[in-house]
Amino acid sequence: MKILVMAGTRPEAIKVAPVIRELRKRDDISTLVCNTGQHKEMIRQAFQDFGITPDLHLDVMQPNQELAALSSRLFDKVNQTLREEQPDWILVQGDTTTVMVSAMCAFYRDIRVGHIEAGLRSFNKWAPFPEEVNREIVSKLADLHFAPTKKAYANLVREGIDPDVVYVTGNTVIDALYWMRENIRGQEEELLDARIVQAIRDGKRVILITGHRRENLGDGFTEICQAIKELAQRYEDAVFVYPVHLNPRVQEPVMRILGDHPRIILLSPLSYKPFMALLNAAYIVLTDSGGIQEEAPALGKPVLVMRDVTERPEGVKAGVSRLVGPHCDAIVHHTARLLDDTAAYNAMAHAENPYGDGHASVRIVDALLNL
Ligand code: UD1
Ligand code: UDP
Repeated sequence: MKILVMAGTRPEAIKVAPVIRELRKRDDISTLVCNTGQHKEMIRQAFQDFGITPDLHLDVMQPNQELAALSSRLFDKVNQTLREEQPDWILVQGDTTTVMVSAMCAFYRDIRVGHIEAGLRSFNKWAPFPEEVNREIVSKLADLHFAPTKKAYANLVREGIDPDVVYVTGNTVIDALYWMRENIRGQEEELLDARIVQAIRDGKRVILITGHRRENLGDGFTEICQAIKELAQRYEDAVFVYPVHLNPRVQEPVMRILGDHPRIILLSPLSYKPFMALLNAAYIVLTDSGGIQEEAPALGKPVLVMRDVTERPEGVKAGVSRLVGPHCDAIVHHTARLLDDTAAYNAMAHAENPYGDGHASVRIVDALLNL
């Protein structure tokens, strides 16, 4: 069986890495990895810490790329790759433009599609944008669906997908996280920026921030940055650490509003190893990211989700994450509550694993082999 794993962005690389490692253990599968290059630096970083070198590179990224232009470059190059490589299956992960276009190109060429992290739904086509629609399209095209949770499984079955081709596997991000947690044990401090180490020694609490969602670009980011500035001014016993996504429309407001404050540390995107060390050191996480909503609960870190809706309700239900929207007042209010009120903090800070047990990749590869 020849399998082509497609990945284009940072989270796809992190979440397919454990699957690639598992595929490469099996003799009866030949595996190729294609980096579409939807992300340039950030995907390189992500693969690097798992020791994976992609076999094929499509190099489609342009600065500030529009969705249609990106899709058009992807259609052309992915189609050409599928024509040349003729895989039996492609594997895609998640809901990016790379995933949607790759699944469509495979369908056009009568190549089977396995979809990892299938069945997530926010039920709002504008949030996350365009990911909610991307994953609905991929669910129509896929031949095997790897749902991370029972809820995701139920979403797919409700949409009319044959339950026999849907597997509940857990999310591969938990495989990646467990693997990396073992890998960095004992080196956590040296993986952290010296300013963060000093702040922790000074007794300061670390608030970790990430953000990049398209629907938050513009007003959302202005509000997010204002909230962080206000919190940094108010709390002298906290330090606000933000590895800033490379999207110019994120960089601009973050650098302008947060660029010059003694308790705000802006970093370049981190590779997965130092990011895990940082997440481990964090007291609270503020994010609009999908993956971090899955990772933080596994480490018992309260997450305030700077979105109005989420396709990952399991963490909210378990009480480890809370939706606060990209709204300045709500972000300030809920962060302040966690910083001021130990009981409120403790109520959220317990490790929960609604997203997997660390064995998702084995289940996915077994399912492919059992066909
Ligand atoms: C993409 C995905 C989103 C995913 C996110 C992970 C889509 C529509 N969006 O969003 O689902 O959550 O990745 O981070 O597929 N850039 C660089 N270097 C990089 C990466 C990005 O310079 O390594 C800049 C470029 O200017 C690029 C811009 O960021 O044009 C936006 O990248 P893009 O992949 O279009 O969207 P993201 O917002 O990163
Ligand atoms: N991440 C990372 N370095 C960073 C920020 C995030 O390695 O500086 C990891 C994080 O642990 C998670 C993934 O990137 O696994 C999330 O990616 P992102 O937020 O870009 O995308 P999303 O999950 O929202 O699709």
